[in-house]
This record gives sequence, structure tokens and C-alpha cells, in this order.
Amino acid sequence: MDIEALRRDTPGCEGRVHLNNAGAALMSRQTLAAVTSHLELEAEIGGYEAAAAATEKVEHTYDALARLVGADRDEIAVVENATRAWDMAFYGLEFRAGDRILTARAEYASNAIAFLQAAQRYGVSVEIVPDDESGQLSVEALREMIDERVKLIAVTHVPTQGGLVNPAAAIGEVAREFEITYLLDACQSVGQMPVVVAEIGCDLLSATSRKYLRGPRGTGFLYCARTMLDRLEPPFLDLHAATWTGPDSYEVRADARRFENWETYYAGKIGLGVAADAAISLGLEAIEHRITTLAESLRRQLQAMPGVQVRDQGQRRCGIVTFTVDGHDPGHIADQLRAKGINVSVSIADYARWDLEPRGLDAVVRASVHYYNTHDELDRLCEALPEPTNTR
Ligand SMILES: Cc1ncc(COP(=O)(O)O)c(C=O)c1O
Repeated sequence: MDIEALRRDTPGCEGRVHLNNAGAALMSRQTLAAVTSHLELEAEIGGYEAAAAATEKVEHTYDALARLVGADRDEIAVVENATRAWDMAFYGLEFRAGDRILTARAEYASNAIAFLQAAQRYGVSVEIVPDDESGQLSVEALREMIDERVKLIAVTHVPTQGGLVNPAAAIGEVAREFEITYLLDACQSVGQMPVVVAEIGCDLLSATSRKYLRGPRGTGFLYCARTMLDRLEPPFLDLHAATWTGPDSYEVRADARRFENWETYYAGKIGLGVAADAAISLGLEAIEHRITTLAESLRRQLQAMPGVQVRDQGQRRCGIVTFTVDGHDPGHIADQLRAKGINVSVSIADYARWDLEPRGLDAVVRASVHYYNTHDELDRLCEALPEPTNTR
């Protein structure tokens, strides 16, 4: 990987140290140009006319995403974001009282809220699979929890609030063995490591554009295995997702676009395809290698600093590095860093009640690295951290 060239192609690398890639990574010049040139075309010739002129580019996005996750193009729906992609799958499932949903401790907050709503609405039981000693989902425990009432296994691959990578493929083996629907939230993993649906064995997968894929905001996608299409009832239908075939009838689209909405952010959709192409051409293995090398190096540096605690769990780690500094509020640390031109974010317990709360953590600082970050930038982060104190 030619890091210097990649940085030159990333305008955001110039002015700041961007370590909030798990929030939104920096777009490349090429992706930015794809988005802005389509917006300019819309302004010039009209939005509908621009969409018609860009049909090939828009359609290419489906091919690129399908290639990225090892799916077929008709198994991809491009929607507004990862949450809406996940929702279209989850709210499309039919639940009955007594059904069980198995999930992980580090589940994303919006998913947890949706589970709790399903519990209230249908009387399903939401059960958290315990972690193993490393802090990732215990596949053994998952296996022991399976019975005929388990309707869904829904797990977050890489949690927003920590550097672990849940064992998605081992979970998939259990799901397949017992023929249980498996929904994977791959929002933080797509774009930072190989995520191949057939290897993982998931039926449904949600992801976003703006994080490790480096695409524009306001887009995301759902993979829905062909075998699942007719087993889900899209929670919303419109004239794009279905055809009004007669005064009293309609027919749902045959492909995954039944989960889409007629109105869409065309420029973003085109940009998402360009970003996916870039990730594919760099190679997801090479991307993961670069990211984990940087992240491990940052963890080592932080661990060596007195009063700094690295909070990441799990056996396999990724580009998200979480830590605390004794005596300092993570929010204040992030503010101080921002004032010095270093972007990090903060994960708070309110967004991770099954994970950070039981671990006794109110919040953690999250520094999430991408391949275009450098060791120098990691040094700058460490040098800019406040001295630990023992009072809080
Ligand atoms: C693990 C995980 N899932 C889902 C989401 C939601 O993504 P989006 O904001 O694109 O809906 C996030 C966002 O941070 C996330 O980290």
C-alpha cells in the first residue's frame, strides 16, 4: 500500500489527525468527485434527468457491493444507513410470543432498542449470550442456548465501543447447523476487513457507507440472501419496492430492492460504489493488515503510559482502540484533542448498556485508525493526552 499516495488522495489528511474513522472516515478525492459531479449534474440538468444519465454508475454500485461481500447483485439493497438496513431485515421477521432472540453483550444500541420493542410488542424473549474469558461472544455458550424456540441470532460483528471482532463465522456455523436466521450487523467491519457472507454464513447483513468504507454519509446497504427474500415481509412498501398491479393488488419486487425506498440519494449511491471499488482494489486483507498493525502499535504505546488503560476486549482485534486516562473525563479528553487538531470520539455507557455498564465504565475514548493514518499521527495523539491524575 502506498500510504503517501493514499494520503495525497485524501484531502482530510492535510489539516488534522483523523482518528474517528469508526464515526466517519475521510472520503478520497475520487469518491468526493463522484458525489459532487453528480450533484452538479443534478443542478445543471435536473435531478431525474441526472439519475437517468447516471444509470450505469448507479447500477455499478450494486455490482461493487455484491463483489465486496461476495453476494449477487440482486441480494443487495442500498438504503439510507446501516440502521435502516438492519431495521428492514429485523422488522421484516415474523415474531410470535415465546420466540427467543439471541444476541451479544456488545450489541449496538439501536438494535438492542429494537429487540426490546419486539419483546414488548410480541412477547419474545431477548437473551444475551455470555462472553468468553476474552470478552467476545462465547460460541460454546451460544450453542448451549439453542433450542427450537430460537428464532433469530443477531450479533454485531465489531462493536462501536471496542476493538473486538466477534467470531462471526463460528456463530454462522451454529446458525446453519440449527437452521436459525442469522442477522449480522457489519457496520464497523465492512471496509476494514474481509467480510464474505458465504464464509460467515449469515442470511442478512447490514452495513454503512461512511465508516471504514470511506463512502459518503447518508447511504448504507443490506445484504439479504436470496433464500431469505420471501421469508421476510418488508416493513414498508412503496411504488419502488412493489408494483400496483390492479385496483386491489400489488406485487413485491423479486430482488432485495424490495427493501429500498423510491426516493434516494443518487450522488451518495454513486459515491458508495466508487468507495467500494477502491476498497476492493486495495484488497481487504491488505487493508486489515495495515489497520491492525497501526491499532496494535497504538495499544502498545497507550499501555506503556502510566495511568492509561486500554479497554479493548476479544481475541481478534481491529482498528478501534478504546482507552481511559485516570482522573480525566473521556469527553474532556476528546475536546482537548480536538482543540489540538486530533479527532477522536467517545463511547458512552448509555449506548452500550449491556457492555460498558457491567464493566463499570461510564465512557471510553475511542481512537479508530484507518490505513491512511501514520505512526507519527499515533505519536501525536499519545503526546497530546493529559497527564493522569488520581482524582476524578
Ligand atoms: C456497530 C454499529 N452498528 C450500527 C451502527 C449504525 O450505523 P448508521 O449510523 O449508519 O445507521 C453503528 C454506528 O455507529 C455501529 O457502530
